[in-house]
Amino acid sequence: MSLQAEEERVVTLPVRGAGSPARAVAAAGPEDAIDRALQALNTDRLRDDYQSQSSFLYLSEFLPADATQQLIDAANALLPEVNRNYLPGHKAGGSVSRHTIDRLAPYIAELYRSPRLIAWLEKITGDRLQLSPEDDPHAYALYYYTRAGDHIGWHYDTSYYDGRRYTVLFGVIDNSSCKLDYELHTKDPNKADVPGSVQYPPGALILFDGDKLRHRVTPSLEGEMRVSLTLEYVTDPNMRPWRRFISNMKDAIAYFGFRQVFRKAFGGKV
Ligand SMILES: [Fe+2]
Repeated sequence: MSLQAEEERVVTLPVRGAGSPARAVAAAGPEDAIDRALQALNTDRLRDDYQSQSSFLYLSEFLPADATQQLIDAANALLPEVNRNYLPGHKAGGSVSRHTIDRLAPYIAELYRSPRLIAWLEKITGDRLQLSPEDDPHAYALYYYTRAGDHIGWHYDTSYYDGRRYTVLFGVIDNSSCKLDYELHTKDPNKADVPGSVQYPPGALILFDGDKLRHRVTPSLEGEMRVSLTLEYVTDPNMRPWRRFISNMKDAIAYFGFRQVFRKAFGGKV
C-alpha cells in the first residue's frame, strides 16, 4: 500500500477526557483489501489462464493477511451456528448459510458485494455477474470440515438458474490433510480431461464455472479442522419453479437444514 493510501485510513477520533484528539487507524474494509489484492495481479494473464483451464483459476495467495484474519475470526465465532449434514456415500460436514452470516458476520456479506471484486471477476470470466437472490443460502456460505471423514464426493456446482453459476472459494482455516481434487475440460469434447489437486491455504482464491468443473474434497482425519468460504454469482438470477424445488430440497438436506432454506415460506420466523 502506498504511504498516501495508508495516511487516508488514519482518522481522528475524539477521546473523552483527553485534552487533544487521539489518532487511530481505522479497520480496513473488504473493498480496501480487494484493492490491495488486485494491485499485485496481472489480470490479462490470469484471464488467459482461466480460459485455457476451461473456466478454472487457482491463486494460492489472494487476500491480504488482515482480510484473511477477519474471515478466520468469523469462522471461529460462527462455530456454534454450524449445521451438520450427512449424505451417506456422498457428503459429511457442516455449513453456515448466508442468512446466519448476515446476522453475525457482516464483513463476509460486504466482501461478497465488493464492487471491485465483482468487476475483477467479470474481467476474468467475461460475463456480467449478478448477486444471487436474497433467498439463496449458497450466495455466501462457510463450509466446515471438523470431524474425521468430513468430505464431499465428486460433483459439479450445478446451476439451477437460467444462466451460469460461478463459484469463488476462499481458504479460511486449514489444519487438515483435505485436498480439493478436480478435473479440467470434462465438458469440452475436444480436450482430454486433466486431473488436478490442491490444498488451498488461508487467503487463497479459486474461481470456476459451476457447471464445468468436476470436483471433490477428500476426507478429513481425526483432530483436523478446515473451513472454506464460498461465494456464488450468477448471470441470470431467474429460476424455473421446478428447479427451485429441487434446489431447495438439495440445500435443505445436504447443507443448511429446512429452517434456513424455507425461512421465506415460514414468513421469516424461523
Ligand atoms: Fe462444489
